[in-house]
Amino acid sequence: MSPFLLTRTLPEDATEAALRADVLHGLGSTPKTLPPKWFYDAHGSDLFERITELPEYYPTRAEREILLARAGEIAAASGARTLVELGSGSSEKTRHLLDAFPDLHTYVPVDVSGSALTQAGRALGAERPGLDVHALIADFTATLTLPDTPGPRLVAFLGGTVGNLLPAERAAFLASVRALLAPGDTLLLGTDLVKDPSVLVRAYDDAAGVTAAFNKNVLSVVDRELGADFDLDAFEHVALWDAGHEWIEMRLRSRVAQTVKIPALGLVVEFAEGEELRTEISAKFREEGVRAELAEAGFELTHWWTDEEERFALSLSAAR
Ligand code: AVJ
Repeated sequence: MSPFLLTRTLPEDATEAALRADVLHGLGSTPKTLPPKWFYDAHGSDLFERITELPEYYPTRAEREILLARAGEIAAASGARTLVELGSGSSEKTRHLLDAFPDLHTYVPVDVSGSALTQAGRALGAERPGLDVHALIADFTATLTLPDTPGPRLVAFLGGTVGNLLPAERAAFLASVRALLAPGDTLLLGTDLVKDPSVLVRAYDDAAGVTAAFNKNVLSVVDRELGADFDLDAFEHVALWDAGHEWIEMRLRSRVAQTVKIPALGLVVEFAEGEELRTEISAKFREEGVRAELAEAGFELTHWWTDEEERFALSLSAAR
């Protein structure tokens, strides 16, 4: 049996305090916003799993295609002995990667969900005797401290989740990842690519309505955690392509003029009829943009792989 270690860097009440702060700030802003990280309670995580299986939602399949085709090249080019995966969740797609690293010393899955980490970590430890698994419960947008494990290190950030950050947040995030690494360590980054807007909008507004339910679920989270009285039926799911920023935006549009109470914050929020609350941006990328953002953060992009249809990219970059 290989060692399995779990380190918690979040205080027990950090999520609750962070949710309060985010809701207070976001619903007090004009236009109103809520950060996408609050989609992912147990129900939201289930809905996201269903999204990844929808015919319209291609990113997960496209990324898997690249990982399966390129895992060997990724392993060889990185030469990594420690693999750190940010936002690892169930670590499902990591398996494709791990299989290509027979000599890996330590796997460090990082996620805010302790239950997902424990399950995935235990299963992996059992499958790969000799592999150290050091799971980290942490918010990867905050400051991370990595365990002291042998280099070189490869940090993987998959799924296109980097696109949920605003450009300034993305720059700060990439710089913080660079600060964790030594020269020659590498970053494997998944980015969804700019394409026909109708394909993009369909991926975020599917016919079965799963994405609509996922979007509205953030309101259930606020209802449950902060005692709010959001009526999900009083909001309509909106997905639109912002051509100037090259990102998809998800919003919730108030069908009527309404007042929502959030007792835990002593807050009363007014929505005008048709008023929109922004819940997510999902930026889409081009190779030159990714290269430039990585260079700005102290990385040199060395490999760029796409799926056959050029919908999604994985890039490998070396810390300078
Ligand atoms: C998990 C953040 C990559 O932005 O495509 C799916 C989340 N939102 N459908 C994305 C999501 C709506 C997804 N990421």
